Formats: sequence, structure tokens, C-alpha cells
Amino acid sequence: MSNRPALPAEIARRRTFAIISHPDAGKTTLTEKFLLFGGAIQMAGQVRAKGEARRTRSDFMQMEKDRGISVSASAMSFDYGKFRYNLVDTPGHSDFSEDTYRTLTAVDAAIMVIDGAKGVESQTRKLFEVCRLRDLPILTFCNKMDRESRDTFEIIDEIQENLAIDVTPASWPIGVGRDFLGCYDLLRDRLELMDRADRNRVAESIEINGLDDPKLAQHVPAELLDKLREEVEMARELLPPLDPKAFLEGTMTPIWFGSAINSFGVKELMDGLGNYGPEPQPTPAEPRQIAPEEPKVTGFVFKVQANMDPKHRDRVAFVRMASGHFERGMKLTHVRSKKPMAISNPVLFLASDRELAEEAWAGDIIGIPNHGQLRIGDTLTEGEALQVKGIPSFAPELLQGVRAGDPMKAKHLEKALMQFAEEGAAKVFKPSFGSGFIVGVVGALQFEVLASRIEMEYGLPVRFDGSQFTSARWVSGKREEVDRFAAANKQHIAHDHDGDIVYLTRLQWDIDRVERDWPDIRLTATKEMMA
Ligand code: G4P
Repeated sequence: MSNRPALPAEIARRRTFAIISHPDAGKTTLTEKFLLFGGAIQMAGQVRAKGEARRTRSDFMQMEKDRGISVSASAMSFDYGKFRYNLVDTPGHSDFSEDTYRTLTAVDAAIMVIDGAKGVESQTRKLFEVCRLRDLPILTFCNKMDRESRDTFEIIDEIQENLAIDVTPASWPIGVGRDFLGCYDLLRDRLELMDRADRNRVAESIEINGLDDPKLAQHVPAELLDKLREEVEMARELLPPLDPKAFLEGTMTPIWFGSAINSFGVKELMDGLGNYGPEPQPTPAEPRQIAPEEPKVTGFVFKVQANMDPKHRDRVAFVRMASGHFERGMKLTHVRSKKPMAISNPVLFLASDRELAEEAWAGDIIGIPNHGQLRIGDTLTEGEALQVKGIPSFAPELLQGVRAGDPMKAKHLEKALMQFAEEGAAKVFKPSFGSGFIVGVVGALQFEVLASRIEMEYGLPVRFDGSQFTSARWVSGKREEVDRFAAANKQHIAHDHDGDIVYLTRLQWDIDRVERDWPDIRLTATKEMMA
């Protein structure tokens, strides 16, 4: 990282990130405050659509509905200070881990939000593990400090032990719950005081000359001040100081304490991401890696969202710009089909509105409306045959057969299923035996979401039925051997929506048997999404 040349200023000021959290820790509230400080919305409204519905579809989309503000699903950009922030939404529910994984391929950093009373929760851990697979730098925000929360050392210990990452305090809380006053900013020697009267107001920030500054006593009661001095002294002895390199390598996380709902600590977190956070990083690709400063434009599709507007069957492919300076109207090569594509109406998700993107730089996310040409994993370049790698498709963990409520509508159903498969919302397999389709997902909730989307977006009631199969593996090997294998195992063979051969399994035993009897056949649980 350090040997790379300086990036053009426009690229260097970009911070592309996602927020990960266990449901209810405060991701939506924090997002809202980012937008507020980023000038994207005027007033943080109260978003309170309860329950699962809010989380199964995009939180952003729901926010749009709830508050009547215009934000677009999946990615939002805003400016704050000298930085341009690109926030990419991650699906909130654990059932969408594959989607989450792919989203995280499009960001350079993640903010992990934890609830100060609960610490590291199951979903925090899962999402953290996904970030770790990519060594993403992680900033931690310990939220809800205005409520009774756990002891500060205890929270830090828990993160260190549970997630095996070094934690360095960027701020230190003063008082808890009803007595929570604010934080001492350890990185900048400032006292940040929370304003309880106005939730949308930024805290009062007072410059302090170290912990012995007499000014402190004017703002912090003696008892809390003694405790603060004692704790900070201990923290400085016991915990490592911020090491920017370790942070960028993903082995150390700075932690800020705050209260998103009171707009407290949010500004410091944003500054932290700006000042210490990673610039747009190189993108792994074949046959060579793509560096953001390369003058030629490249980008890759990490998400496809269909039917954003129910009146038009359009799809939007979300593209992370990997290099260069894109300008509207450019002709790019769609590497998979080797065809040129004029990108004439790309969308930039400025939080204030969906806007035509006149330009975009490496690190930005643009939306490209299309009729299905663009698929997850596709690469766009100015001609070079590059293929971005590391955007996998995972084997489903649950399989069910699917039928249209009205048998005359089978063709429509096929179309709908293919669309969702291309969007990455489910795996769709056409078995080589019998008729109909088998749909595979990672979490049970996805079946419900699929059924309701097929009904809503295609007007087709559908039924899912149990399947004798429980998972699937992609089959590879020499052509003749694969053909021989497929012919001998017809009852297990299906094709996915790309036409690739899969082996449907009932038990681990099926897989063991293939490995034993067919040494030249390879079964894999993931497939790189590429041509
Ligand atoms: P999520 O997206 O991670 O699921 O969390 P969300 O922001 O929706 O927040 C979950 C709940 O926590 C909300 O309460 C929200 O108001 C509350 N919350 C968020 N940040 C803070 C904070 O800093 N302090 C306190 N005390 N609460 C916070 P809710 O009960 O679901 O809604 P509401 O009735 O409070 O509006």
C-alpha cells in the first residue's frame, strides 16, 4: 500500500464503506445522521417501521417510504468536510449473507456498530468474519451510550477476545446512561459534550490541553473527572495507541463511543473515517490487478436490482468504479460479451436525489439501468480483457421446488425466476429429470421474500414445495468426464441459470461418494461469478 504512487486528489478524497451491525444496534439511525451531516437531508425524521419487513428489503428504500425523502436504495454519496463518502447498504438480515459478502467486495472499509449494553452479538460476529476474509479496515462505533451500558474496558475486552482484533480507543466516554456527558476525544484532545436538548444538533466541542487542563473542571463534575483521568491513564497503559497501518491492514479497530440518536459521536466517526480511512484500493482481477489511479476506466458489477420501478421492467446494475475518471456517455467494453456499451444514463446516488452521473471516479458507485445485459461479477473496461475476481456465488443451503399457482403461467414463472437468479437473489436450477425448477437459498426467509416479490412484481402466485435435495455443488473437470458423470447421475443433475452443471445432493454422503468414485470430477461449493 505504502509503495503506491499518490492518487489523484479526486480519488484520494473518496471513502467507500458499509455499515455492519446486529439488528437494532442503530445502523439506520447512524445512516440517517450521516446523511444529515452530509447535507443530504434537513432533519432526521423518526423512522420507525417495525419488524422484519423493514429489514428484508433495503433499509434505504424503506427510509424513503417512511420519511418521504428521496434516497435511493443500495448506495448513497455525500460530502462532508473535504471527503466524498460513498455508503453502500448491506442487507440487514443474516439470511442474505451472500448478498452481504458481495456488497463488501465493493467497499474499502466497514463501520461496525454495536449496542453499548449488548456488546458483540451473533450477527456482529458473522458480518465481522466476512470483513475479515477481505482484511477490510473496521471502525467501531459503540452506540446507545445515553442508556445504561457496559463498562468501557469490558466492552473493549469483549471485542478483542471475541473478534481477535486489537482495539484502540479513539474516544473515552464520560459517565453512562443518564449521567452520560459526552466523550474525551483521545485523538485530538478535545472534550465533546452531548446536547440532550436537541437531538439533531452536533455536540459542543471544546479544545483541551491534555487531561490536566483546568478547563475540564468547568464542564465535568469532579467525580466524573477523577474517573475519566483514572480510566484514560489505565487505557493508555493497557491498550495500544492507534496504529494507522495496523488499522488499514484490518488488525486493529479504533472505537468511538456515542449515541446516534442524539447525533453524538457521529461527526468524530466520520472524521476518523476521512482522516485515517482507506483511499480507494486496488481491485483483484485476472490477468492483472486494477489500480485506482490508472487513467483508463474500469468497473465491476457487484449487485443487480430488478424492478426498482414497478412500471418499467428495468434493472439497475450497481457498479463500483475500480479505476479512472468516468464521464457520462463513455463507451465501455462489456468484457463477458466483448460488446461495447454506451453508458448514457448512469445514475449517481447522491443522497439528496437520484441524479444522472456526469462523472465518477475510482471508488464511486454508479447505477447503470439496463435490460439484463449486466450481471453480477461483470467487468467493464475501455477495451482490455480484464475480469474482476473474488465475487463468488455460494452453494445454497436450502432447496425447494417451485410451481406457479396457475399451471398455464409456467413460462412466466421461468422468466421471473431467471431474473431473480441474475439478480443474485436465489439460485435457480433446472433439473435434467422431471419438469419444474428447484430454487436454492441460503436462509429460509429468502423463500418468503421471493414468493412475495414474484407475486408483486409479476402478478404470479407461487408455491414452494419441499425437495428431496438439500444442497448443490458445481461440477467441473474434463469435458468428457463431466459428460460421463452427468449421464451416470441423471437423478442428481441440474443446470443453473448460466447453464453450468450442478450436482444436487441430499446428504454429505452423496458428496463423499462422488469424491471416492469420481476422482477426476471436482465438486465446489462456490462459483466465481464470471463468464
Ligand atoms: P438498526 O437499523 O441497526 O436495526 O437499528 P435502528 O437504527 O433502527 O435503531 C434501533 C432502535 O434503537 C430504535 O429504537 C432507535 O431509536 C434506537 N436507537 C438508535 N440509536 C440510539 C441511541 O443512541 N440511543 C438510544 N437510546 N436509542 C437508540 P426503536 O425502539 O426501534 O424505535 P423508537 O421507538 O425508539 O423510534
